[in-house]
Amino acid sequence: MRILVTGAAGYVGGHLINSLLQDERFADYEILGIDNFSVGKKENYDLIRKNGRVTLEYGDICDSGIKEFLKDVEIVYHLAAISGVAACNKYPELALRVNVGGTLNLLEQAVKSDVEYFIYPSSAAVYGEIEEELARENLPLNPLNKYGAMKASCEALCRGYYNSHGLGTIVLRFTNIYGVGTYPKWRTAVTNFIKRALSGENLIVHGSGEQKRDFIHIDDVVEVYKFIIKPQAKGGIFNAGSGYVASIREVAETVLEIAKREGKEIGIDFVKPRESKERTFGYDISKLRSLGFESRFDLKKGVEKTFKDVKRIIKKGYEEFQREI
Ligand SMILES: NC(=O)c1ccc[n+]([C@@H]2O[C@H](COP(=O)([O-])OP(=O)(O)OC[C@H]3O[C@@H](n4cnc5c(N)ncnc54)[C@H](O)[C@@H]3O)[C@@H](O)[C@H]2O)c1
Repeated sequence: MRILVTGAAGYVGGHLINSLLQDERFADYEILGIDNFSVGKKENYDLIRKNGRVTLEYGDICDSGIKEFLKDVEIVYHLAAISGVAACNKYPELALRVNVGGTLNLLEQAVKSDVEYFIYPSSAAVYGEIEEELARENLPLNPLNKYGAMKASCEALCRGYYNSHGLGTIVLRFTNIYGVGTYPKWRTAVTNFIKRALSGENLIVHGSGEQKRDFIHIDDVVEVYKFIIKPQAKGGIFNAGSGYVASIREVAETVLEIAKREGKEIGIDFVKPRESKERTFGYDISKLRSLGFESRFDLKKGVEKTFKDVKRIIKKGYEEFQREI
C-alpha cells in the first residue's frame, strides 16, 4: 500500500510526510513524495526525514507520466499547486494550467489506478464575501480572486469525479495556516510578526487590524489530513479550521506579549489597508468536529509554539531545527 503526496517539498507537504512517517496508523504504508521544485526547494526536500518507507522524486502534476507514480497508491494527498492569491494574480495562466489542469490530470489517473482516497486542500477563499457571520460548507461560493475561483473549480472537479466514478474525493477548506512547516512562510502574519519582534522591529498591521479570521496551526493541519481518512468522509467537503477566531490586532498583541517576556519592547504600526474592504468572518467547523476532530492549538498555544520554533531557527539555523523536531 502506498501514499502519494504531491507538492512534497512545499510548506505543508514535507511536514505532512514527516508526520505520516511518525504515525503508527500509517506504519504499513510506503510514502512517495513528488514535486517539481518550482516553489519548494530541493534543500527543504532533502531535510525530510528519510527512512526506508519514503521515496522522494521529481515529478510534474501536469505530465501524463504522472500515472507511473500512482501504481498501488491507496491515498493521494494532492498538495502541489501555485499556492496563494498573490502568485495566482501574478501568473494566472500558469496557475490555471497547474492548479486546475494538473488536478484534472491527477484525478483522471487516480480513477484509472483505483485510488481509494483523494484529498484536496481547498481554501476559505472560495467563500469570498459572505453576508452571514459564519462560513458554513453549504453557502454558495463567491470567490473574490483567481486563487479562490480556481479552488472552487477544483472542488467541482473533485465532486464530479466522486459522482461519476465513485473516486473517494475529500475536500478540506483550510483557513489561515500558520506555524513552521517544512519551512517558515515569512509572509504570513504570525511568522512575520514573530520575526520582526525578534529583531526588535515594530509589527506592521494593514488597516484597523479588526478584521477577524480563524487561524489553524500547521501541526493541526497535518492532523486533519490524517484524521480525515475515513470511509464516511468520502465525497465530503469540510471547513478545516481551529474554531479559534481572532482579529489581526489580537494576533499582533499575542506576539507582543511573548516578545515582552523576552525583553523586547516594541509596538504596532498601523498602515493603509491592503484590501479595499476589511472582511471578517467566523468559521463553522462543526461538520469536521462531528466526525470527532478537535484542534490541539488555540491561538495563544499556537503562537507560543511558533515563537519558540522561529527562535530556534534563527539561533541554530534551519537544518539543525529540522533535525531536532
Ligand atoms: N498554506 C496555506 O495557508 C494554505 C491554506 C489553504 C489551502 N492551501 C493549499 O494547500 C496546498 C499546499 O500549500 P502549501 O502552503 O504547502 O504551498 P507551497 O507553495 O509551499 O507548496 C506547493 C508545492 O507544489 C509544488 N509544485 C508547484 N507546481 C507543481 C507542479 N506542476 N508539479 C509538481 N509540483 C508542483 C511547488 O514546488 C511547491 O513545493 C495548496 O493547494 C494550497 O493552495 C494552503
